[in-house]
Amino acid sequence: MEIVILPDTTAIGALAADAIVNLVQRKPDAVLGLATGSSPLAIYDELAARYAAGQVSFAQARGFTLDEYVGLPADHPETYRNVIHKDFVDRVDFAEGAVRGPDGLATDIPAFCAAYEDAIVAAGGVDLQILGIGTVGHIGFNEPGSSLASRTRIKTLTRQTRIDNARFFGGDVDAVPTHCLTQGLGTIMAARHIVLVATGPQKAEAVHHLVEGAVSALWPGTILQHHPHVTVLLDGAAASRLQ
Ligand code: F6R
Repeated sequence: MEIVILPDTTAIGALAADAIVNLVQRKPDAVLGLATGSSPLAIYDELAARYAAGQVSFAQARGFTLDEYVGLPADHPETYRNVIHKDFVDRVDFAEGAVRGPDGLATDIPAFCAAYEDAIVAAGGVDLQILGIGTVGHIGFNEPGSSLASRTRIKTLTRQTRIDNARFFGGDVDAVPTHCLTQGLGTIMAARHIVLVATGPQKAEAVHHLVEGAVSALWPGTILQHHPHVTVLLDGAAASRLQ
């Protein structure tokens, strides 16, 4: 696990964008693993700027998102499908349908989740996975107690995660869905390179466990200690509890 402490989110976005641009230039049909939420926004802003400057194209690239709320209407602005399109996909030149995500309205959830796993494998696996980390230590929506070998499945969100995400729902925790579909920890671990971003003091405890804690389902991100190629990009506040 490589830990890089940077001055601010702009520097984090630039470094992560360097890795993604290098990958896509080397392998135009690369498969990107995409996270939603606040952490990757600076990366997506930087990639959109480099695309606008003609420095990179995603025309042949593919993408898989990590997770999705269960039950939100398709036109709800906070479905992760709509969020990733707004934050990244629609700002660059992905081909139609090249970025896929879990379907939070699937009627047969186990069948959908198995098909999603198959689609990632059929695409050749994820070359570079962008991750954030929750204050509870989740990656994707693998909440504390998640199997370290888990695959895409339905999960119940913790109260804390719903509180953390209420800011996207007008501050109303009861408006945050109770369930989600998420890639499992085993799914995420199959990515060839993982770039995890964390900023702000509210992430310091989760980052401490991620980097220095015992590998445990109680802090699901700790499984990344067993991955051969993880880059952790932090600001000083998120790194403040590291030894
Ligand atoms: C998002 C995801 C989550 C977030 C995490 C941090 O697709 O899977 O694990 O990365 O909850 O969220 P932010 O970045 O909003 O603090």
